Amino acid sequence: MPAIAIVGAQWGDEGKGKATDLLGGRVDYVVKPNGGNNAGHTVVVGGEKFELKLLPAGILSPNAVPVIGNGVVVNLEALFEEIDGLESRGQRCDHLRISANAHLVAPYHQTMDKVTERFLGKRAIGTTGRGIGPTYMDKVGRLGIRVQDVFDESILRQKIEGALRQKNELLVKLYNRRAITVDEIAEYFLSYAERLRPMVVDSTILLNDALDDGKVVLMEGGQATYLDVDHGTYPFVTSSNPTAGGASVGAGIGPTRFTRTIGIVKAYTTRVGAGPFPTELFDEDGMGTRLRTVGGEFGVNTGRPRRTGWYDAVMARHATRINGFTDYFLTKLDVLTGIEQIPVCVAYDVDGVRHDEMPMTQTEFHHAQPVFEYFDGWTEDISGARTLDDLPANARDYVLALEKMSGTRISAIGVGPGRDQVVQVRDLIED
Ligand code: GDP
Ligand code: IMO
Ligand code: MG
Repeated sequence: MPAIAIVGAQWGDEGKGKATDLLGGRVDYVVKPNGGNNAGHTVVVGGEKFELKLLPAGILSPNAVPVIGNGVVVNLEALFEEIDGLESRGQRCDHLRISANAHLVAPYHQTMDKVTERFLGKRAIGTTGRGIGPTYMDKVGRLGIRVQDVFDESILRQKIEGALRQKNELLVKLYNRRAITVDEIAEYFLSYAERLRPMVVDSTILLNDALDDGKVVLMEGGQATYLDVDHGTYPFVTSSNPTAGGASVGAGIGPTRFTRTIGIVKAYTTRVGAGPFPTELFDEDGMGTRLRTVGGEFGVNTGRPRRTGWYDAVMARHATRINGFTDYFLTKLDVLTGIEQIPVCVAYDVDGVRHDEMPMTQTEFHHAQPVFEYFDGWTEDISGARTLDDLPANARDYVLALEKMSGTRISAIGVGPGRDQVVQVRDLIED
């Protein structure tokens, strides 16, 4: 004991990488439980910036063992590219462990992702194009290829053949693409087998044994609550469960072993890709652009500019509810410095009816107009603040107001991208 989960509370890019890095020095394992190389987690250590996609950001914490859990979808080409990139910068990766049950992204999954998006036209999701959705579709459809299959060529070929039978029909007849052969896919996977072998483990035994030994296991969730395929703004979501329950499934650690689930939430809101966003700012020369520029809101993974808007307390409250958050880590408070009046969405107006909680249907959420409360801003530079008392009164009041509305305590506050740029209200592992 204990297991701790870090979970995005909005639409991603809240600063999960930074939160992981903050705790990483004090934990024994950092597990990625869901998603794949659609994530982009940034860590800034001593002015040096690292952007992790498939690997957990915890790989940068020297004393923690990084683990890719069973719930992840692994693109082997991307995996080794990322490892090579880190090793060339002097980071060790030989301690990385990968679940034998994790599913593999095949080149045809990436093709399917791209052609499906094109086929959807105006209804496209705006995916990262990494083949994530099609890989999870095959997992749930029982046509997936798993990490362990790479070590049994005969099984591997049978599974590829099963998957391609249907894929080739779609690719050739519906999408006007060429058929893919079993040989080319088998060769692709087998070419990584020997490099992969020493990393592959039964991660459920590894992690549960560690918990039995009193070690600390941190789950670094990818994506976020409102990208969750069950709880997010469906269909504008990813295809995994980035919520706290998904961290339990995706690491194979029972829910009773979690002592903390920490929601990472920005002091405003961003979103990449399509879908509803009630507090979005469209004043392209005004605040929307200001948040994007000052906050550096450009996707780590695809480079797309992030859509920006104000803090949405209705969403935060609901995220607390479905994740059972024990704490919030509020990030990027410094980005709001210099704004005179800061709006916070406290409820929605849906076709003339006030909703204090998330509306039940997609139609209502698409019609939701924010009801704002306004808070006085501050002009002082807060990037050097380390305690609540270091914050100007208005910044403190803003944080305390968010805490009251968001359903749980705010235990840490980000005031800059650096590892040490945190106002620590209480300890995130022990208190
Ligand atoms: P993740 O996907 O949740 O890990 O978040 P990303 O790394 O995609 O995006 C968060 C960005 O905000 C990164 O560039 C971080 O370096 C940066 N960041 C994190 N916390 C803070 C903070 O408190 N203040 C500022 N200014 N930047 C932060
Ligand atoms: P991190 O872990 C922000 C979004 C995509 C798209 C939708 C589906 O860095 O917070 P997918 O490729 O997963 O099928 O795309 O989900 N998306 C993210 N947005 N941060 C992420 O990860 C995301 N991962 C996926 O933009 O709208
Ligand atoms: Mg990100």
